[in-house]
Amino acid sequence: MKQFFIQTFGCQMNVYDGWRIATMLKSRGMTQTENVSDADIIILNTCAVRAKATDKVFSALGRIRRAKKPDALMGIVGCVAREVGSDAFRRVPELNFVLGPQSYHKLPQILDNPDTRLLNIDLGGLEKFDELPQMTTAPTVSYIPIQEGCNHCCTYCIVPYTRGRELSRSFDDCMRDTLHAAKTGAVEICFLGQNVNGYKYTDENGKTFRLSDLIRETAKIPEIMRIRFTSSYPTEMTDDLIEMFATEPKLLPFLNMPIQSGSPNVLRRMNRPYDLDQYISIVEKLRIARPDIQISSDFIVGFPDESDSDFDETLQIAKRIGYINSYCFKYSPRPHTGAALLPNQIPENIKASRLALLDNTLNEIQRSFNISCIDKTLPCLYEGPDKTGLHAVYRTPYMQQCIVALAGKSDAPTMANITITDANKASLRGKFAE
Ligand code: SAH
Ligand code: F3S
Repeated sequence: MKQFFIQTFGCQMNVYDGWRIATMLKSRGMTQTENVSDADIIILNTCAVRAKATDKVFSALGRIRRAKKPDALMGIVGCVAREVGSDAFRRVPELNFVLGPQSYHKLPQILDNPDTRLLNIDLGGLEKFDELPQMTTAPTVSYIPIQEGCNHCCTYCIVPYTRGRELSRSFDDCMRDTLHAAKTGAVEICFLGQNVNGYKYTDENGKTFRLSDLIRETAKIPEIMRIRFTSSYPTEMTDDLIEMFATEPKLLPFLNMPIQSGSPNVLRRMNRPYDLDQYISIVEKLRIARPDIQISSDFIVGFPDESDSDFDETLQIAKRIGYINSYCFKYSPRPHTGAALLPNQIPENIKASRLALLDNTLNEIQRSFNISCIDKTLPCLYEGPDKTGLHAVYRTPYMQQCIVALAGKSDAPTMANITITDANKASLRGKFAE
């Protein structure tokens, strides 16, 4: 029996793409291996968002080409394929296929014609969703992509180039996938899109569907206990969607809504032209709708021409909003983006010290939020055993990890009320509530 190896880098969208590819290969009778040297086909499912992510792929390819069976097929799919294109074959001559994020469903072509080279980085739109077989069992937390690509064109971001213009899938397709996931094991649904709250689909009768419609419909499915969505663009946080936080208890009180920077000047140069007052008023509305809601953000430090006082404004807004669970990145110039050409690029050492400062600030906020959870009892979702096998890992409604002693319980319940007993920056400890 033939074996495949797949390694996924990057965002949840890639994780989903990886599931679909694995399902397709299994449906052709192949089995998955964790060991490259046993594999007959090796697939790297790649991320190009920062230069480091792309470099990682090429260093992995360097290791794999020495370890693989001589006749094993090897290739890349996803955003690096689209970023690098045919040049990938020049850099790694052993590559057999290079398939972009919207053309990975063409993979069977290389299985049927293993002696050719396959390059396809076309932006095929939503075709891939229909071409590959559905998963037979859904993970407990199931990702449902409702949109491909992005129209925002932030000047630092390669995603609009790699994943193309924004396209929303039809409401019926999204709900069909959601129902299928619910019937085959999903307990939590996470809707995915680069600009997920901009989801907008108009059917042949002229009826328009938004993300709020998907949430309302999904909340009616008895198997589904929790709903969330990522990533949101601040100014697309419309009132109908904010209202969902007040009316749908299954929608988790947690929202990733990246601000990227607290400086209006930097935001303008990033082509994210919202003002801070607007952002703050959206957060206020969300807190009125769901008083316990927690917000997380992505931040970029060291964007071209970012001054000390611009950066200080980022620190101020981070404290003011009180973000939990956030990510900060050093600005990385990317091909096919405008910001890479801007003057006054910031030296690496300044980026590094700003990153450390912002990380410290965010860690402090996270720690005090975690500590504020002690003695609370929260409905949590089981993720799996920890490394020792003696504890269960649960996820709180605010996406914190919580370690719970199994204390003789043989099976950890999928949903459980957990009383938080201890907390630090990274995670919580808890026990099953009486
Ligand atoms: N809306 C998307 C964002 C994709 S990129 C989503 O689904 O999450 C994820 C994050 O990477 C961005 O929010 C941004 O903070 C960061 N990022 C994107 N391009 C970057 C670059 N060139 N350098 C550093 N960080 C970047
Ligand atoms: Fe990238 Fe901005 Fe879209 S971060 S994915 S261009 S909203």
